[in-house]
Amino acid sequence: MFSSRTPEDLTPNRLAEALKAARAEGRTILDLTQSNPTRAGFEYPGDLLRPLADPGGLTYTPSPFGLLDARAAVARDYARRGLAVAPERIALTASTSEAYACLFKLLTDPGDEVLIPRPGYPLFEHLASLDRVGARPYDLDLDAGWRIDFESLEAAITPHTRAIVIVSPNNPTGSFIKSDEVDRLAEFAAARDLALIADEVFADYEITHEARAGAGRLVDRDDVLSFSLGGLSKSVGLPQVKLAWIAAAGPDRLIDPALGRLELICDTYLSVSTPVQLAASELLERGANVRDQIRRRVSANYERLLQKAASLPACRVLATEGGWSAVLEVPSVYPEEALVVDLLQHDNVLVHPGYFFDFLHESYLVVSLLVAEAQFADGIERVLRRVGVPVASHE
Ligand SMILES: Cc1ncc(COP(=O)(O)O)c(C=O)c1O
Repeated sequence: MFSSRTPEDLTPNRLAEALKAARAEGRTILDLTQSNPTRAGFEYPGDLLRPLADPGGLTYTPSPFGLLDARAAVARDYARRGLAVAPERIALTASTSEAYACLFKLLTDPGDEVLIPRPGYPLFEHLASLDRVGARPYDLDLDAGWRIDFESLEAAITPHTRAIVIVSPNNPTGSFIKSDEVDRLAEFAAARDLALIADEVFADYEITHEARAGAGRLVDRDDVLSFSLGGLSKSVGLPQVKLAWIAAAGPDRLIDPALGRLELICDTYLSVSTPVQLAASELLERGANVRDQIRRRVSANYERLLQKAASLPACRVLATEGGWSAVLEVPSVYPEEALVVDLLQHDNVLVHPGYFFDFLHESYLVVSLLVAEAQFADGIERVLRRVGVPVASHE
């Protein structure tokens, strides 16, 4: 009766089961996977959402890509980051996830494929499968600072490949794509008639100062068809407000038909509310306050993680250039899954195992840098205590 877009087996994984059990027992779990900014103790200005009540929202003016003023506000936000983008090339969506769904509809037929980075964000496989698209991984090379392994990219291409997804900075590796990599990727994609989807939701969050300056961008180049994604969810910490965007770029012969077809897709759903479009400009400007708090938190937690892990030579914090997560390499004394379940059951701390993100081998733990600082320090101490004790005591 049901489509194969959703999996047949909906059984929760072992970690999810263990978490449910721990909560049912009433235990307080220190959640180092918390990536919801609205629950991480930031001070949101009390009147931040006031522009959503603009009486202009009482009139509905359907517009496939969104009201031009809202698209112009997004263009100004690109200008803040030193990038010139025409509002006419910006399409609004309710979320970045929805932006992927629109782009998969634009670029693929059922059975086609898109290439996704590995390690990477687990949601891509679901997003692709919901649109009947296959998601094939290409590798990022840890030893090369998570640069794209072009050999694996080439090997992942099949006659069904339609697009390559890049995430900069990537979740969870925290690596920005470099400008020379973008040059090479653009040439690679254009030569094979592939489009590029550049997920830049974390672009504002550089941890190392030089990271953003050396990062490559697609939004202002015209040699390859590309779609850059961003949204309020991360850029100003407002995932519940539901506003994201696609900025299209590329050669004239492709950009016009691409925008024409994308417009038809967006017109079919018209999913972005009028109030949020009217509020976009103010939210983007005043949200800078929240963004600054998040930036400070993420950097402070990363520093703290480096300091604490330094006391345990068997552990290594992988270098993170940006984003909201960090990766801790720990001794592979027993399987990642057993370790994270142990951490939950014995230490009341929740972390993600590397295999959730498709790391090529074990053992990695992924933690969110968004967690309130005192809790983060406490949680990391618990993790290090457990991975630092002899294996016999894990039994
Ligand atoms: C890399 C990446 N892209 C997209 C998203 C989804 O963002 P949105 O809330 O706009 O759908 C996330 C959320 O964590 C993410 O990590």
